[in-house]
Amino acid sequence: MTHRVKSPTLTMGELQLIPFTLHHAQQRASWEKYGAREPLLAHIDLNFQSFTEIESWFDHKSTENMFWWAIIHQERLVGEVVIRALNDREMTGRLGIHFSPEERSKGYGSLVLSKLLAWFFTDSEYQVLQLDVAALNTWAINLYEKVGFRYQYCFWSGHDPRGGIEPFTDQSFSHLKNYFRRHQGKSEVLFLEMSIDKQQYLKYHRHMSEQG
Ligand SMILES: CC(C)(COP(=O)(O)OP(=O)(O)OC[C@H]1O[C@@H](n2cnc3c(N)ncnc32)[C@H](O)[C@@H]1OP(=O)(O)O)[C@@H](O)C(=O)NCCC(=O)NCCS
Repeated sequence: MTHRVKSPTLTMGELQLIPFTLHHAQQRASWEKYGAREPLLAHIDLNFQSFTEIESWFDHKSTENMFWWAIIHQERLVGEVVIRALNDREMTGRLGIHFSPEERSKGYGSLVLSKLLAWFFTDSEYQVLQLDVAALNTWAINLYEKVGFRYQYCFWSGHDPRGGIEPFTDQSFSHLKNYFRRHQGKSEVLFLEMSIDKQQYLKYHRHMSEQG
């Protein structure tokens, strides 16, 4: 199965973005799992038992209209980044990024997004990059704001049950209770919609360069 759009190779120091392949899917499935340590991020884990399951996940995702990159450091897959839902009429796309648990907080997210935004707004024809992020994920929000994304609005969406969290009864999540609600018998979690467009990017980038 081939991707509908070709993801360009991008290099930033020791990090490289290259098109995501089945080989990367296999590496991704053997990452340390988020679920045990951070149940709120359990949906990122690939809990596959066999190569066939990995292959069918990869084939299914490959049909989506998106750019899909493996983030490589010293020949190892350390993360994955996508720009999905590409809309060639509105010239928009939606960003998703994650690293394996042990590769976070090394500055990779900042490096990758700086490079990706530069490519998206100067070398591609696209005009707007959007994303949504759980409002409780302040780590990711900090990163998005740092590279120029701005808040648009918030919305409630179904709470992913894969982490097995009971936000209303589990005391260890009581400090996060304002991010959850019960609605029509279901648990929902608060999300932020964020975006950056080409004009904002160029202005922000110029401002940051002047700051040194
Ligand atoms: C969110 C994520 C992509 C950020 O990438 P990263 O490589 O860890 O981020 P960086 O090391 O470049 O740090 C970027 C910013 O995040 C924040 N950050 C870094 N480490 C942090 C930590 N331990 N705790 C909280 N915030 C932290 C800081 O604001 C930092 O900017 P600064 O270095 O200028 O202060 C990554 O942590 C990840 O994969 N998280 C799990 C998946 C996820 O949440 N994806 C986003 C879903 S929308």
